Amino acid sequence: MSETASTRSSAIEIRSLTFADLPAAMAIERRSFGSPWSLAMFLSELTSPDAVCLATDGPERGLAGYLICTRYDQVWHLNNIAVDPARRCRGLGSQMVVRLLEVLGERAPLTLEVRPSNRAALAVYAHFGFRSVGRRRRYYPDNAEDALIMWRNEPGKGGLTRG
Ligand SMILES: CC(C)(COP(=O)(O)OP(=O)(O)OC[C@H]1O[C@@H](n2cnc3c(N)ncnc32)[C@H](O)[C@@H]1OP(=O)(O)O)[C@@H](O)C(=O)NCCC(=O)NCCS
Repeated sequence: MSETASTRSSAIEIRSLTFADLPAAMAIERRSFGSPWSLAMFLSELTSPDAVCLATDGPERGLAGYLICTRYDQVWHLNNIAVDPARRCRGLGSQMVVRLLEVLGERAPLTLEVRPSNRAALAVYAHFGFRSVGRRRRYYPDNAEDALIMWRNEPGKGGLTRG
């Protein structure tokens, strides 16, 4: 089997995102997105009983990345995932998704939106069995790019999309 980012970093520790991480998370957020989340948005998720908020420090010290996933009724929405640009392509993003699937359970219905131009994110999502099921037209206000709607275990579609 060829080595991928997700198999390279099986020793990486994934932990809970904490309030103390927020300054570093905001810095990564600003370097990762044209329309970054505000502090209030991070706080809202960190204080929600329906959110799973994960973090990784990678092999070096200091926050390297975070993932935020929220439950709406019976469905989980992967709302945010970002890795420090200097520490990408080392498996950290994939390892956070691995832990998320452990926390939610293999059969959890999980959805997200992603830009069709975001090749790195699409590579990660495809690896974990997310499938594109449609588009939201002109979803991203900065450049009016469509969003791909992706699902893993879409309700009503039967079975797992990845075993
Ligand atoms: C998406 C993101 C979290 C991935 O984090 P990461 O730690 O680099 O992820 P990994 O190292 O686990 O995996 C990256 C994969 O993308 C692939 N990749 C990276 N750049 C790529 C590109 N330009 N084209 C195609 N694939 C690419 C890598 O080859 C790797 O795939 P592999 O596992 O098959 O080797 C990171 O790129 C990021 O923070 N992006 C900015 C924020 C963002 O766009 N978040 C997603 C919003 S929907």
